[in-house]
Amino acid sequence: MSRAAAFTPADLAANTDHLPAMPAVAAKAMELIADPETTLAELQKVIEVDAALATEMLRISNTALYSRARVVSSLRDAIVRLGFKKVRSVLVTVATQSLFRGARKAIAGADVLWQHSVLAGLAARQVAQDLGSALRVDAEEAFLGALLHDVGKVVMLARFPDEYGEVLRRVWEGAGTYLETEAAVLGVDHRHVGHQLLKFWGLPVPFQTVALFHHEPDAAATEDAAHLALVSIVGAISTCLHLWGLGSPPKYATRAVDAPADRAIAALGALGVTPPAAESLRQMLTDSGTGIGKGLF
Ligand SMILES: [Fe+2]
Ligand SMILES: [Fe+2]
Repeated sequence: MSRAAAFTPADLAANTDHLPAMPAVAAKAMELIADPETTLAELQKVIEVDAALATEMLRISNTALYSRARVVSSLRDAIVRLGFKKVRSVLVTVATQSLFRGARKAIAGADVLWQHSVLAGLAARQVAQDLGSALRVDAEEAFLGALLHDVGKVVMLARFPDEYGEVLRRVWEGAGTYLETEAAVLGVDHRHVGHQLLKFWGLPVPFQTVALFHHEPDAAATEDAAHLALVSIVGAISTCLHLWGLGSPPKYATRAVDAPADRAIAALGALGVTPPAAESLRQMLTDSGTGIGKGLF
């Protein structure tokens, strides 16, 4: 049996044998972060062992994703300034970004996948901040959930570059949505692969649910209101990005609907976002969008 035939796309969703592992140091750091007894010094000690990870953490802490006014110049500073929860986001961002880097190759359309994820993260954090008390969604969880919602696409691109390249080619022609095209070409879609990866990486259940249900938040099987709200926010934002043509292929299938801008406002309105707030969100994302592809790769 040839190497290429050793596993199929469906296996990516069925088991963890062919999924990329989270880098060991990042995994250890995540474990420490989950433990309320962990001290700053302990966390620092684990991360600084991996110089590349520490450097990348610092770099990302200073990008538009996390930076405020002051530049963070040491790992200790980064941990203090960001707090454990954001350190977790940065670690996962670094791990996810290296997946994108590894998968990107020269395939047209791959950069837009990363752009979509980052814009979704920024938007979700903003919406959660604005509506936080009403929806009880933590802004950092919203960021991370949205950053990771489509991570299954990257795994498929990394493991089946020819087939996923074909998916991207068709999607960019406006021939169908990602879901439809993935199912047609690979026989499995990014929801199930992403869900399996986040389970494998040991991320909390709400993130796994986001990966699986962001295309149909109402179907998410959970009684937890905050958890459901997280899935709804990410689902609405991903839809809006496509309707707005941000982090989305130019001829994306759902852009052909009537009045896409109105639909985006309606989708956000269902969460409680007012039309002026939706417009300022779109503006913020448009402004951020231009620098994101380059700045974070
Ligand atoms: Fe998706
Ligand atoms: Fe999406």
